[in-house]
Parts: sequence; C-alpha cells; structure tokens
Amino acid sequence: MNKIIIAIDGFSSTGKSTVAKLLAKNLNYIYVDTGAMYRAVTYFALENDLIGKDFFDEDALVRRLGEISITFKFNKEAGFAEVYLNGNNIESAIRTLRVSKFVSPVATLSAVRRKLVEQQQLMGKDKGIVMDGRDIGTVVFPDAELKIFMTASAETRAKRRYKELLDRGHELSYEDVLENVTTRDRIDSTREDSPLVKAVDAIEIDNSDLTIEEQLETIVGLAQEIIEK
Ligand code: DC
Repeated sequence: MNKIIIAIDGFSSTGKSTVAKLLAKNLNYIYVDTGAMYRAVTYFALENDLIGKDFFDEDALVRRLGEISITFKFNKEAGFAEVYLNGNNIESAIRTLRVSKFVSPVATLSAVRRKLVEQQQLMGKDKGIVMDGRDIGTVVFPDAELKIFMTASAETRAKRRYKELLDRGHELSYEDVLENVTTRDRIDSTREDSPLVKAVDAIEIDNSDLTIEEQLETIVGLAQEIIEK
C-alpha cells in the first residue's frame, strides 16, 4: 500500500489534533502532535526558571537544549501517543494555560525549531504519518502528498478551548482564553523563522460549522484518492 505524509497546519485550537488523531487511526498511520514538542520545551523552560512573567533567558534555554529529550509512547487507553520529557509523562502538564502563555515566544527561537524539525523529519522518513502543527506543510515536509490548512474564527476556537479546559477542571475566564488564542495567532504568524502560513498547495478547511465527523470524512476522502492513485 502506497503510504503518504499528511501535514495538517493551522491556528491554535482549530481542533487539528482531534481530527489528526482520528485520521491516523482510520488509516492506521502514526500521529505526531508537534505542538506537544514545543510545549515540552516550554515546560522544561518553566520548570528550570528560564522563562516567566517578565523574563526569558533565551541563551540559557538554547545552551540547555541538549538536556531535553522528547519522546512519544502509545497509550492504548487514550488511543494516541503521549509525550514524555526526559522519560516523564507530561501529556497533561503541558495542556495548561500557563504553558500556552509561554509557548509562542519559545517557538520563535530558531535553535529550538531546528532541533524539533530534525526530529520530526526523522519520525516521518518512512511515511505513513499524520503530523499536525504550524509549519509542517511549509518547512518540515514541503513535499507532503496531502496538506490541510485548518481555520475557524478566533471566537469559535476560544469557546472550544475554554470548554475543554473547564471540563478538565481548570479555573479560568473565557476572556483569558480568547486573549491567549489571539496573541498566539499574532506571534505564530509574524515570527521570522517558519511563520504560520498556508502552503500554496494546501487545502483550506474552515471548520467553524463542521462536525468532527464531517471534517474526518472530507480528509479521509482526499487521502484515499492520493493513496489509491
Ligand atoms: O498546536 P498547539 O497549540 O499545541 O501548539 C503550541 C504552540 O507551539 C503554538 O502556539 C506555536 C508552536 N508550534 C509551532 O511553532 N510549530 C509547530 N509545528 C507546532 C506548534
């Protein structure tokens, strides 16, 4: 069977990972959440006091990148691969507003991006992979056979993220979540190294009014067409 690379890019909280996970399951492909990798580096920076409310010791983080090992391990119950930092499961620790607040500045650093992109390219060398992020179709796999660019209004995305965090027991306000979503949109799209842009050959899907099933059906259809060619 002809295996392909599927790149899914888009703004924060567009539900990329939900669809990407289901897509990978449907095709029996590996799923990689690259946002989790940038979050893991951010978590390391927070835990080591390299970043905080009014400071960011970029040089120290870059110097210490060699101490960071990010791995994924499939969790049967969850149905996807969870992220580990130096052998510790940090899957839920990285899904907090605290990590979300600092991840975009960390993701602007070229040394961080080089390290993570290299690892991502290795993970995709045998194809049969669904990878989601911001620069997958433009930088990580510019030759990916299928590229999807997901969009939705900032309000739709903030509402989804707010509900998700509330369901997980976090206490926070909708305004804080909306502010985080729009700030990350701005930093992610305007950074110098690998800004979030739609690849020219990407297919744009605005999922503001689409159910997960509808999105999945569309993307599986597109993938099957390429696989069967
Ligand atoms: O997908 P996410 O919201 O978990 O990603 C967290 C942050 O990581 C996002 O705001 C920008 C950064 N990121 C990136 O710069 N490049 C990627 N390929 C994935 C994420």
